[in-house]
Amino acid sequence: MRVSVIGCGYLGAVHAAAMAKLGHEVVGVDLDVAKVNALTAGRAPFYEPGLTELLTETLATGRLRFTTDLAEIAGARVHFVCVGTPQKRGEFAADLVYVDAAFTAVLPHMSDGDLVVGKSTVPVGTAERLAIDFEDSGATLVWNPEFLREGLAVQDTLHPNRLVYGVPTGMPGENAQLVLDEVYAAPLSEGVPLVVTDYATAELVKVAANSFLATKISFINAMAELCEATGADVTGLAEAIGYDERIGRKFLNAGLGFGGGCLPKDIRAFMARAGELGVDQALSFLREVDSINMRRRVRMVDLAREVCNGSIVGRRIAVLGAAFKPNSDDVRDSPALSVAAQMQLQGAHVVVTDPQAIDNARLKWPDLTFAATAEEAATGVDVVLLATEWAEYCELDPLQLAKVVREKRILDGRNVLDPGAWRAAGWTYRALGRR
Ligand code: UGA
Repeated sequence: MRVSVIGCGYLGAVHAAAMAKLGHEVVGVDLDVAKVNALTAGRAPFYEPGLTELLTETLATGRLRFTTDLAEIAGARVHFVCVGTPQKRGEFAADLVYVDAAFTAVLPHMSDGDLVVGKSTVPVGTAERLAIDFEDSGATLVWNPEFLREGLAVQDTLHPNRLVYGVPTGMPGENAQLVLDEVYAAPLSEGVPLVVTDYATAELVKVAANSFLATKISFINAMAELCEATGADVTGLAEAIGYDERIGRKFLNAGLGFGGGCLPKDIRAFMARAGELGVDQALSFLREVDSINMRRRVRMVDLAREVCNGSIVGRRIAVLGAAFKPNSDDVRDSPALSVAAQMQLQGAHVVVTDPQAIDNARLKWPDLTFAATAEEAATGVDVVLLATEWAEYCELDPLQLAKVVREKRILDGRNVLDPGAWRAAGWTYRALGRR
């Protein structure tokens, strides 16, 4: 099938390459010339494991191309809109400028029987509003939220764990489902569950899922606060409650909390939308979820101060990790970088390292010092903070690292190190939610 993808960021670039992999003929459109040139040359404009290989493979088939010219979407039957919905400056609400601009731009290129498929995360009610504009175009609007995780985006797109179609009622909806079923024939044949529903439910599925995940993380981080007050251990607590299948162990990793371009802004946009709908009380708990999450960052700076005998002024601190999570170079609302910056602002000399995110981190916080490796960052420091659980940091040898630091103090911001091994090597080991 001929498919267009409008917006080639994290979501769109991966989606375009994945659609080509599934056998479709794909044109990806973005306004950013540099991004289009990179993708055309088979280079991923951001770090995402497996994406370069997928681009190389699919570009070679001739089924995938990228352009800045939106007119080239004409002739495609299905048009995926994958533009971003960042948080509005100074407000909780989502900024829909890119979504509105994309749908307005797409409209004149629609032909009878086309499908416009919204994949962006939007406030509930957006699809119904946009559908009105498409009534006379011959095209049908569908909402098909995306659940990919950064770092696993290729796998999540090719083998999603569920598909959700928000379709209009009656024949247009039924026809739209047939076309989308053809687009997703490969994952559907693997038995991927499909939920066909209305626009509002499809939009809500996405934000509800992210809100649930954020709540689960903040729940365990709230328990970490209790553990700190009582001398209990949050990792043992998470393990024990996780054995209950109704609770489950996943997303109960206590530590610096959640960040990134999705969870924080999605729960805020959800609260803002609930307020507009007059049901703000239903989501007031998300404000607490947000607060618990932010308190972890403050607590980590306090912990650094504690191990430095009351003051971090003039202390050298190595921060291992700048990305909001491992296997990503994304530093949007990164807990690691936020703590690094706070400590620097409070008088410490902070050296940050990350296997992939240094360039992005430097653009955001040029005043921080950056080092290429953990060993280089840790040389001569008073404290080492593991802030993003990249595999190479989890596997650090405490005996080896002890040789380069000034003081053997390790803060485990993700509860991934073995306290026994570090203490045995002479380190002061501290973590959030642990003795
Ligand atoms: C999240 C969702 O997991 C995806 O399903 C969704 O599609 C995506 O947002 C989106 O809306 O596009 P992502 O932002 O890539 O995906 O990252 P997650 O894996 O959800 O992690 C988010 C944050 O939570 C990270 O900072 C991570 O370190 C933190 N986290 C995660 C914890 O602190 N503890 C945990 O147990 C798990």
